[in-house]
Amino acid sequence: MTVGTTVADVYDLEGLRAQFPALSGGLAFFDGPGGSQTPSVVAERISEVMLAGLSNRDRGTPTGRRADDIVGLAREAMGDLLGADAGTVVFGRSMTALTYDLARTLARQWTPGEEVVVTSLDHDANVRPWVQAARASGCAVRWAHFDPASGELPPQAVTEAITGRTRVVALTAASNVLGTRPELAQVIGAAREVGALVVIDAVHLAPHAPVDLAGWDADVVLCSPYKFFGPHLGVLAGRAPLLESLRPDKLLPAPDRVPERFELGTLPYELLAGTLAAVELIAGLDPGGAGTRRQRLLASYRELEDHEQTLLRRLEAGLDTIDGLVRYSRAAHRTPTSYFALAHRASAEVSAVCARAGINAPAGHFYALEASRRLGLGDTGAVRAGMAPYTTEAEVDRLLEAVAQAA
Ligand SMILES: Cc1ncc(COP(=O)(O)O)c(C=O)c1O
Repeated sequence: MTVGTTVADVYDLEGLRAQFPALSGGLAFFDGPGGSQTPSVVAERISEVMLAGLSNRDRGTPTGRRADDIVGLAREAMGDLLGADAGTVVFGRSMTALTYDLARTLARQWTPGEEVVVTSLDHDANVRPWVQAARASGCAVRWAHFDPASGELPPQAVTEAITGRTRVVALTAASNVLGTRPELAQVIGAAREVGALVVIDAVHLAPHAPVDLAGWDADVVLCSPYKFFGPHLGVLAGRAPLLESLRPDKLLPAPDRVPERFELGTLPYELLAGTLAAVELIAGLDPGGAGTRRQRLLASYRELEDHEQTLLRRLEAGLDTIDGLVRYSRAAHRTPTSYFALAHRASAEVSAVCARAGINAPAGHFYALEASRRLGLGDTGAVRAGMAPYTTEAEVDRLLEAVAQAA
């Protein structure tokens, strides 16, 4: 698609929007990076599963088989979405909870003097669990910093922090405030050379572009389905030999096989069914998509990226004409997420003006606390406006009008 093509040419935007009851109320949702709206099919699948008769997983009863089948199908769907083997897909309460569990489990193997690498670009969920696990094990933390002027995190900033003592490199695939998508290959290569593990936070990337555990040659990726039409839970996928080698805390009678070894308590079957529905919806976004579900997902992401990047260019071209507006999201390769502030108006007030116009574009650090501080925004942050698959040009223009009014 060429620049300037209207978004309506990309895919059936109106057809897609019709599947989201929340969109009929007239609100413009630019708060997708905090969580997307829910299509009917996801909510219906959750409700159906809960009402159709459901037991704990087993193969002996129809309702037990239903639960067991849902788990298998949801793992396959998430494996396709993450470029991972279905047998290595772990479900948990949230990305944060999964990362804490992983960090504590890995830290048992660390010895004082070893190191972990974290970045100031990351959401705190891929920072604090590592910092705290390192502290508890007598390990050092080495920071890789992004450039606040460009919003870039050059690979060297991370590779320079990697040493022969590095055990884990925790890196985001996309910043949830700046949208910056660091180049992963060089970092992963450098970590491999010293035998360090690479844990990629793909929470903000997954709604916008393909995640590829195997293709990236990463050790672990994490995401959260509620950012891409699904329910509130977290998902981890990892390299099979790594997961096989780990011994997380678990109940004695709970299964010891991977991935169940990492899943505490009974899985939320209904949410897994909702996750499966969300992945299927994304896989169908490109009506011309064919082949395996992974291939259809990749085709859909191509359409999605065209749609969302077109909107981003429109938004940012407009934002850049507003007097006194500072736009922090500037990296060359980034998701359709814009982060900005006005020189003479508090970001919370800008968001309030938007809210009065029926536009959700909240202000804050969104838990990317280190990034906000490094940008000079302290713990207050700035306004974030994220595109979603259902965002329209008209909504972008409404947002621009509201921000101009606030200015
Ligand atoms: C980039 C990023 N990482 C991690 C998280 C935490 O995800 P969860 O809410 O599933 O713990 C978020 C949530 O906003 C996020 O945007």
